[in-house]
Amino acid sequence: MSIPPFSTRLLAWFDDHGRKDLPWQHDITPYHVWLSEIMLQQTQVTTVIDYYTRFISRYADVAALAAADLDDVLALWTGLGYYARARNLHKAAGIIMAEHQGQMPATLESLIALPGIGRSTAGAIMALGYHQNYPILDGNVKRVLTRYAAISGWPGQKNIEQQLWQFSEQLLPKNRIAHYIQAQMDLGATICTRSKPLCSQCPLISDCKGFESGNPTVFPTSKPKKIIPLRQIHWLIIQSQSGLIHLEQRPNEGIWGGLWSFPEFESLDAAVAFYQQNFGTVPDNLIQQKPIRHIFTHYKLDIFPYLVHSSVCSQSITDYEGLDWHTRNNALRLGLPAPVKAFLKLLE
Ligand code: ADE
Repeated sequence: MSIPPFSTRLLAWFDDHGRKDLPWQHDITPYHVWLSEIMLQQTQVTTVIDYYTRFISRYADVAALAAADLDDVLALWTGLGYYARARNLHKAAGIIMAEHQGQMPATLESLIALPGIGRSTAGAIMALGYHQNYPILDGNVKRVLTRYAAISGWPGQKNIEQQLWQFSEQLLPKNRIAHYIQAQMDLGATICTRSKPLCSQCPLISDCKGFESGNPTVFPTSKPKKIIPLRQIHWLIIQSQSGLIHLEQRPNEGIWGGLWSFPEFESLDAAVAFYQQNFGTVPDNLIQQKPIRHIFTHYKLDIFPYLVHSSVCSQSITDYEGLDWHTRNNALRLGLPAPVKAFLKLLE
């Protein structure tokens, strides 16, 4: 026996289990669909419900929204977050008044031309608001489709996104487009959830490649982690016979600008050369310390500290005036990078 098409099964499931009583499903107009779709971006249905109801009673149509003060619109949006959404709604309402005689545009292209409306939101307005056969591709639908067809690759990647748009277009039914689009969203929100999907209750289980693979939650592939570069530096911690420590003030530019730190080198050879130049001999005992890993936003820093007990004694310290010597306690009062401070605290 052959399996009914994807859309047939989804629609049958929707009739029994889909959401049909959300506030934006009561009086469906393109304006209501637009507003609800914008509010539902990055925001849970339960949070949106009250905001949507208040917004609609305050701004019943595009004309009312366009005539409103932006500050009032933003005040009504308080707590919903992502305020660019409210600014774009207000701006788009103005454009609809000026360029579309106050009527919500009714083509995909003219909707996409408005601020804040991408291809998926435009598709939802066309399908839910105008009953036109357009697909959508929001987060829920991406998850359903990548699992159903076991599509690997991060959906934010251009070629994967293109493949998903094509696929979502192929799957569209001939009839009941609005129910079908709502069904896709509902299946993603209630059955084909991010974690612990309820596969046994899913109308697509019989030919879902993700389910077949035994590990549906590997789809969609997550966004690749940025590889952050690793830098390596060497510190020379020079301690005089009387326990004074040599520190240098770092240049104002760059990391730890203006803070006091141990002399820093690209290589151990460069560190030895520095020592030889200043003290006239090679250090006779370099004691390697435990490396420190420090994470910055843009790179990781591996620090290899070397302790040197210098033969410099207190009396002759003035011979080394070019260098800055500090007692440990005095050093701890200077502006220090966290790993320098941690290291000084460990020093005897
Ligand atoms: N998320 C985005 N659009 C939605 C809708 N129309 N109903 C429920 N959740 C949604």
